[in-house]
Amino acid sequence: MIPNDANQSSTPVQPDLMSNGTAQAGAAPHQSFKLTKGLFITFEGGEGAGKTTQASRLANRLKELGLDAQLAREPGGTALGEQIRSIVKRDTRIGTAAETLLFVAARAQLVSELVKPRLRRKSIVIVDRFVDSTIAYQGYGRGMKMEHIATLNQIATGGLTPDLTVLLDADPNVTLSRVETTPTLIDDSTIKGERSGDRADERKFEREPLSFHEKVRQGYQELARDGKRWCVIRADQAQHRVADAIWKRVRPLLIERGADAEPLTRKQGVSSE
Ligand SMILES: Nc1ncnc2c1ncn2[C@@H]1O[C@H](COP(=O)(O)OP(=O)(O)O)[C@@H](O)[C@H]1O
Ligand SMILES: [Mg+2]
Repeated sequence: MIPNDANQSSTPVQPDLMSNGTAQAGAAPHQSFKLTKGLFITFEGGEGAGKTTQASRLANRLKELGLDAQLAREPGGTALGEQIRSIVKRDTRIGTAAETLLFVAARAQLVSELVKPRLRRKSIVIVDRFVDSTIAYQGYGRGMKMEHIATLNQIATGGLTPDLTVLLDADPNVTLSRVETTPTLIDDSTIKGERSGDRADERKFEREPLSFHEKVRQGYQELARDGKRWCVIRADQAQHRVADAIWKRVRPLLIERGADAEPLTRKQGVSSE
C-alpha cells in the first residue's frame, strides 16, 4: 500500500476551514498516508467546464485511498478569500484593475495560509482555479497587461507553480448551457459534492458575452501549449471519462512521490454520473 510512516500523524480535519470554501474530501479517515513530498494540482477552464465537479471527485478518490488531500477554491479557501469571492463574483461595477487585485489578494492569502503550509506537510493540495485564471480572464478576456498580471501573480505566490494543471476545455456554448441548468445552491459554503456550483447571484462571469468566453478559452489553450505541467482534457465528454483522463496524469505523480502503484490502478470505488 502507500508508505505509512508511523511517526507522522495524520493531518486532522479542520472544521473551521470547511466553512470557508475548503473541504477535507470524504469522510475523515483515522490515518492518512503521507507522500514523500507535497503535490499541488490546479483546475482551470471556463464556466461550467466541470472544474468543481472534477476537483471534488479527485479529492474524494485520493481520500478513499487514504491519502491526505485538501481541496480549496479560488477565490476562497480562507475567511478573507470567501469575503472577496462574495464581492468579486457579484458586483458588476468593479473595474478590471480592481477585479484583478481582488483575485490576487485572495490568492496571496490562500497560498500563505493554506497551500504552502499543506505542501510543507507533504499533503496533496487541489485548488479549483489559480494563477492561470487571472491570465485567461483578466488578461486574455479583459485585456489587462500581461506583465502586470505576471508581477501580481508572483507577489501572491512567491513563484509557487502547480505540479499539474488540468485544463478542462470545451466550446463555451456547451459548458455555459450546463451552468444555466444548474439549480442555485442554497448553501455555497463548501465545494463538496459533485453537483456543487456557484450561486445564481455569483454568476457575473457566466453572463459575459460569448466573445468573452471564447477569448478566455483561446487564452487557456495558448497557455497550455507552453509547459509540461498542463494536462488538457476535453470537457464535453462524460464525467467518468474526464475523471479517468485526470487520473492517468495524477497516478504517476503519486507513484513518483512514494505511493504504491497497485491500489492506484484499481477501479474507482464510488462512481457517479
Ligand atoms: N462532463 C460533464 N458532462 C455534463 N455535465 C457536467 C460535466 N461535468 C460537470 N457537469 C455539470 O455541469 C455543471 C457545472 O459543473 P461545475 O463542476 O460546477 O463546473 P465549473 O466548476 O467548471 O464551473 C454542474 O451541474 C455539473 O454537474
Ligand atoms: Mg466551479
